[in-house]
Amino acid sequence: MIEFVASSRLFNLHTHHTTYQFLIDPNGFLLHTYYGRRCGGDSFGYLLRQADRGFSPNPREAGRDRTFSLDTQPQEFPAVGVGDFRTPVLEVENADGSCAADLRYVSHTISSGKYALEGLPAFYGEEGEAETLEVLLRDPWTGLEATLYYGVFPQLDLITRAVRFQNGGSQPIALTRAMSACLDLGRMDLDLITFDGYHTGERHPCRQAVRPGLQQISSIRGITSHQHNNFVVLCQKDAGETHGLCYGMALVYSGNFEANVERSQFGDVRLTMGISPWHFRFQLAPGEVFTAPEVSMTCSGSGLQTMSQNFHRAIRHNLCRGWWKTRRRPVLLNTWEAAYFDFDQQKLLEIASSAAETGVELLVMDDGWFGERNDDYEGLGDWFVNLKKLPGGLAPLVEQINAMGMDFGIWIEPEMVSEKSRLYQEHPDWALQIPGRPSTRGRSQLVLDFSREEVWRSVYAQIKKVLESANITYVKWDMNRSLTDVWSGALPAQRQGELYHRYVLGVYAMLEQMITDFPKILIEGCSGGGGRFDCGMLYYTPQIWASDNTDAMDRLLLQYGTSFCYPTSVVGSHVSAVPNEQTGRTTPLNTRAVVAMSGTFGYELDPRKLSERERSQMRAQIDEFKRFYHLLQDGDYARLTNPFRDQEFTAWQHTAPDRSEALVSVVAGMARSNAPFRTVYPRGLDPDMVYQVDGWGCFRGDTLMYGGIPLPQGGGDYQSWQFHLKKV
Ligand code: GLA
Repeated sequence: MIEFVASSRLFNLHTHHTTYQFLIDPNGFLLHTYYGRRCGGDSFGYLLRQADRGFSPNPREAGRDRTFSLDTQPQEFPAVGVGDFRTPVLEVENADGSCAADLRYVSHTISSGKYALEGLPAFYGEEGEAETLEVLLRDPWTGLEATLYYGVFPQLDLITRAVRFQNGGSQPIALTRAMSACLDLGRMDLDLITFDGYHTGERHPCRQAVRPGLQQISSIRGITSHQHNNFVVLCQKDAGETHGLCYGMALVYSGNFEANVERSQFGDVRLTMGISPWHFRFQLAPGEVFTAPEVSMTCSGSGLQTMSQNFHRAIRHNLCRGWWKTRRRPVLLNTWEAAYFDFDQQKLLEIASSAAETGVELLVMDDGWFGERNDDYEGLGDWFVNLKKLPGGLAPLVEQINAMGMDFGIWIEPEMVSEKSRLYQEHPDWALQIPGRPSTRGRSQLVLDFSREEVWRSVYAQIKKVLESANITYVKWDMNRSLTDVWSGALPAQRQGELYHRYVLGVYAMLEQMITDFPKILIEGCSGGGGRFDCGMLYYTPQIWASDNTDAMDRLLLQYGTSFCYPTSVVGSHVSAVPNEQTGRTTPLNTRAVVAMSGTFGYELDPRKLSERERSQMRAQIDEFKRFYHLLQDGDYARLTNPFRDQEFTAWQHTAPDRSEALVSVVAGMARSNAPFRTVYPRGLDPDMVYQVDGWGCFRGDTLMYGGIPLPQGGGDYQSWQFHLKKV
């Protein structure tokens, strides 16, 4: 519920469990007063204390009063150059070369429903689910306007924000930093959690104290990156899974980003998030508009678990869209680790028929089916079937696979071009390259200039033909390198700073076109695994391949980190062969399945190479996955242990919203001789309900939660168990 209290010029944004508050001060500055547990709506304006602080300047309106300074007040949308020396969200270059911006309140509107952003992904609200507040600010001296958008989802405890800038003056203005949100939290002793890593080891949580000065994570790779996810958490020092105040902020965007946490001279904490200002310069001629992407925020007064569950619900119901939003996703078999580039029609059919017998529902033909693509040095950009490998084209192959009772999907990497390709021969200028400089390769390929509509439309036309040529129900959209040599022949020199963002807009535009033309195709995002795993992509692709690392034990770590923001239903996860391709480790088949089930579930191996026993295990796993699907995909998720801390075993739980059923998954570490007894403690059961635990007995919820479930002893390294609890 959004409330404006005219007498105190105060905005209250209430969700069921949180309140977010800011006010308009007498000089038109927007000052942030509160974000935390739900309150009745009293003004927290009394927290805005003032003192004469040396070297903290005062606006002219303050007259002889030296106690008001933007440098020390908590602000809603701080700009630069007029008195606040903390990290700003807005920096400009005015026509006269000055860099000051001074945004003051002009007007506001409150409306039902959730705002949308043209060309950009955003959370959406069904009828009655959300409200929108728009606050218009203007710099009276240049005419630059900023409309701050707030979307309030009471049931989800979610608040979204975005900003629309318009040059309302008569001179050009360049935005050199236009971030999406600032959260000034006042003086608090907080920890910062970021989700960091590398290719094949994404989203490992890193928790550290917020210290004086600036802590920053960012990506300047043109994509969200494997190195840092664009989701961060601030929480009280003693906050844990089930207690303490926590704030989560996620950017709904897939390109360069920056998140800054700054603890100021008096201990106040500021969090800012948005597009990275690095090589960002957006030129606004009079009347022109720039929209900064959305951020979503949630606050939990009862620990990290609730914070995560808030995001999970919001992402599942108010970000993912379309035909596949609530449908069960097919159990797939992907050919990448099964065959790499080495396949032809015969081999695919053999793999398919072997997979079909085990209950696999979808065969995905990964990289290598198009152009002259026999390795990763050539062929990208030529999106037509390689007839040497698939002589009759796709249709006869797909028909045979369909006849086995399976659907069929393909891999694409539309944003890329190999120099050895027809596309590059015809349009060398379509790749991002700086004239007069040798271009930098990544995975031996170049990036297409998706900021140019003609470029992505031409690639799309090729892919559309393929998708129309056969019964294709799934597409894996990959993106396998960081951007370099970012220069476009279509932009003048002073607009090259717009290119990174325009590239992302081009990717979104093509995705939107594709889901419009093929609404029933399931698109899975991918960027060398989890290099573009973010809320922006999830608006178009309801699942994303979480990592190129398929090792079950490594996956425990990265799926644990991923779960802080993202629900199980979006996490692409497969069972692969052993010894594992990335680590050389051998884990039991059962364990690999338990881990992959905490994701979209599928296989990435050659089923022909499995023993009869393994194939029957595979059949049983697919049945189990279907049996537990409603819990895995829609249940409330709880992290029962932290695999970075506890080596003995890792456990997590999916619980039905009405608590009548739960699935506790456990994976043990290395075996030890004469090992101590181990117990797992479920969480969030109904204490008074009696549950049947598969293969064990009937117990009250309180018994199970406080007494725990004993884990079996022995069995070798990396054993795993799933305990299914059902109300009797
Ligand atoms: C990326 C993906 C893999 C696979 C290969 C194909 O690395 O993450 O899953 O599709 O590309 O080249």
